[in-house]
Amino acid sequence: PFTAKCLKSQKTVEVEEGQSLLQALLDAGIDMDYSCEGGVCGTCVVPLVSGEVDHQDEFLMDDEHETHMTTCVSRGIGEIEIDV
Ligand code: FES
Repeated sequence: PFTAKCLKSQKTVEVEEGQSLLQALLDAGIDMDYSCEGGVCGTCVVPLVSGEVDHQDEFLMDDEHETHMTTCVSRGIGEIEIDV
């Protein structure tokens, strides 16, 4: 599990094992665009403000991983802050 602090919506979301960050955000009532849910289309990308992420997507470039993450497949380690 990990925690995502959502700066724009001012919500803190707990993401359990077996649940995607995207699903946790949607469950929290945050309006998210998404499509493939497989880490390839980039529709679900959000700005990453702080924290360590286990990037699992095949969309973003390595340097983009420092400031962005896909929410459908990538997961935070501990606590992350995203700008949604
Ligand atoms: Fe396609 Fe996340 S929904 S990369």
